[in-house]
Amino acid sequence: MPAILLNWETRPRDIGDEPADALLLDYLRARGLTGAKEGCGSGDCGACAVAAGEPDGSGGVRYRAVNSCVCFLRSMAGRQIVTVEGLSNEDGPHPVQRAMVENHASQCGYCTPGFVMALFSHFHGGGGFERDDIVAALAGNLCRCTGYRPIIAAGMSLKDAGTGAARRRAIRRAAARMRNMRGGAGGGDFFAPESADEAAAILARRPAARVLAGGTDLGLEASQELKPLSPIVDIGRAPDLARVEEDDNSWTLGAAVSFERCAEVLAGLPDFGELIARFGSPQIRARATVGGNIANASPVADGAP
Ligand code: FES
Ligand code: FES
Repeated sequence: MPAILLNWETRPRDIGDEPADALLLDYLRARGLTGAKEGCGSGDCGACAVAAGEPDGSGGVRYRAVNSCVCFLRSMAGRQIVTVEGLSNEDGPHPVQRAMVENHASQCGYCTPGFVMALFSHFHGGGGFERDDIVAALAGNLCRCTGYRPIIAAGMSLKDAGTGAARRRAIRRAAARMRNMRGGAGGGDFFAPESADEAAAILARRPAARVLAGGTDLGLEASQELKPLSPIVDIGRAPDLARVEEDDNSWTLGAAVSFERCAEVLAGLPDFGELIARFGSPQIRARATVGGNIANASPVADGAP
C-alpha cells in the first residue's frame, strides 16, 4: 500500500485512497496538524514548510524542507513527513525550537513553524552555521513582522547544539520503518512508473494524464486554480530519468533531475554554477526539475532563461 510515516508514529499511514491530486498541506491540516500554514499557496513564502525524510543509507534519515502547499501527497509515499508538532519529545523542545525562543525569533508566529522546519532540515543535514549558511538555508521563508536578525541569530546559535539521545534513537527507528515500507507509490489514478519506458507506456494509454516531477508548477494548478488533475503520472521514481551523465563536453540531465542535484553537479561552472544557488529556494530546488521548467514553459520559471 502507498503509505507515509507521519512524525514518529510506529505504523505507516495508508494514503492509497487519497485522491491523486491531494496536496500534502491539506492532508496534514485536515488531521489536526495545523502548524504548517497556507500563506501564498505557491511555494514562495515557506509558511507551509515541513520536512520530508528518506533513509540516508547509513541508518539515519536525510531530511529536506518542502513546501507542502504545492507538494502532492501521493508523491511522498515511502517517506517520513515531520511537522512542527513532531519536534518536542522526552529530550524536551527540539534545539531549533529552543534557539527560536531564546533569540526572541517569533512575533505573530504565522511564519514560525515554517522557519523551524527549514532550520530542522538544515540542522539534521549537518548544517553549516555561519551567517551565510543560515541565510541560504532560510532563503525560502518570509517573515513580515519579527525581522530576520533574531531568526538568523537563532540559526547560528545551533552550531554547538546536540541532537539528544532520544531523538537520535527516534530517527534511527524512522529510517528502519521506511526501509520496511512496501507497496510502492502508485494506485488508482496515481501512477508511479519506475522507468522511462514504463512512463511512456502509461502516457500512451492515457495521453491526457498530467506528468508530475517535483510539482512546483503543477501544484499551483491544484492549490490556486483548484483544478482537478487526475490521472497523474509521477516520473520522480524512475531512476533513469533522475540520472546525470557527463562526458568531456557535456552533461545530460534526466527530466526528473532536481535543481538541488543540478546545483551539486554544476557547482564549479562559472556564472551558472553561482546563479543556480539563487534559483527559487532550498525547498523549491529540492523538488523542482530542469525538465519540468522547460516542459511547463512557465513564464516565471528560473530555468528557461
Ligand atoms: Fe507559501 Fe507554501 S504557503 S510556500
Ligand atoms: Fe509574524 Fe514572522 S513572526 S510573520
